[in-house]
Amino acid sequence: MMKKQIAVLAGDGIGPEVMTEAIKVLDAVSKTAGVKFSYDHQLVGAAAIDATGNPFPEATEAACLNADAILFGAIGHPKYDNDPSAKVRPEQGLLAMRKKLGLFANIRPVNTYEALAEASPLKSHLVKGVDFIVFRELTGGIYFGQPRGRTEDGTNAFDSCNYSTEEIRRLARLAFGEAQKRNNKLTLVDKANVLATSRLWREVVQDMADTEYKDVEVDYLFVDNAAMKIITNPASFDVVLTENMFGDILTDEASVITGSLGMLPSASVGADKALYEPIHGSYPQAAGQGIANPMGMILSAASMLELSFDLRDEAALIRQAVNEALNEGFVTEDINVNDPRSTSQVGDFIAAKVTEYTAIKH
Ligand code: IPM
Ligand code: MG
Repeated sequence: MMKKQIAVLAGDGIGPEVMTEAIKVLDAVSKTAGVKFSYDHQLVGAAAIDATGNPFPEATEAACLNADAILFGAIGHPKYDNDPSAKVRPEQGLLAMRKKLGLFANIRPVNTYEALAEASPLKSHLVKGVDFIVFRELTGGIYFGQPRGRTEDGTNAFDSCNYSTEEIRRLARLAFGEAQKRNNKLTLVDKANVLATSRLWREVVQDMADTEYKDVEVDYLFVDNAAMKIITNPASFDVVLTENMFGDILTDEASVITGSLGMLPSASVGADKALYEPIHGSYPQAAGQGIANPMGMILSAASMLELSFDLRDEAALIRQAVNEALNEGFVTEDINVNDPRSTSQVGDFIAAKVTEYTAIKH
């Protein structure tokens, strides 16, 4: 029997509630699929600051290093957001975690569901058929560059953006690989008309296209133009490659055009560790009310099954169950305000469907 150890970092806000539902669904998989999951629950974010003073405590790091994969809920708490003088912030835990675990690639698929076409803020003909995937660099650029800080008199602040060819290449390799599995198209988003780092990205990516990936057609888009095109012609994107901060901004923009921010999973992968999290964040206003959409977290668990454990069939069954919940309108209030189900009702439904499908399959 296959055994997998999962580090579970539920975090803050709605993180713990949606995590409970993802584990419910994983347990349904494990009851029938001949695989056993064990869960190592650990603190992260504001919850970890409250308990230990550190947003990414050593015990959490050790559990991540020990695990076969990491499931992550969300972090962030309003009590830190409006206090620029706070010495420790939940977000530092997230950044430290990415850096320490070497999670250099953040992979965010953006796809639409027919059942949600009307929920998109864009006209439905624009979102029809949208299906792209963003490869965002996650451990470099302006998020981590040195030097950073303040001048002694406090009147000037500075951040640095650095990239090495190797940092660009290792992420680009993943994006090119994905392009080969899809339509042999790759778009590099940058600001090469202004930034030296962007010009290095172009050079490295063009060189890879000319030598290792001749079958992939690469095009280049300035980030401001890309931001417009995500609204005016989102269906034109396929595989998008970009640096850390541009990716942060564009993936938030991309996520809302699908109609529900609560639906989208993501994977953060490194050379030997991978972490799976929904992209919706901690949504503190909804915490504890049983109204959060657990689908993004559940679909993140499906991505884990597929990418880290090679359990493709099981991942597909979870996605099928999520689709069925959507089609039957068995969804939380972000998708159906008139007749919503609770977070745990949606989780129960999906887990029951997964059990039902696996019973048929075996
Ligand atoms: C994300 C978040 C984080 C980021 C924040 C919370 C530091 O916005 O995962 O996209 O900027 O990377
Ligand atoms: Mg972000």
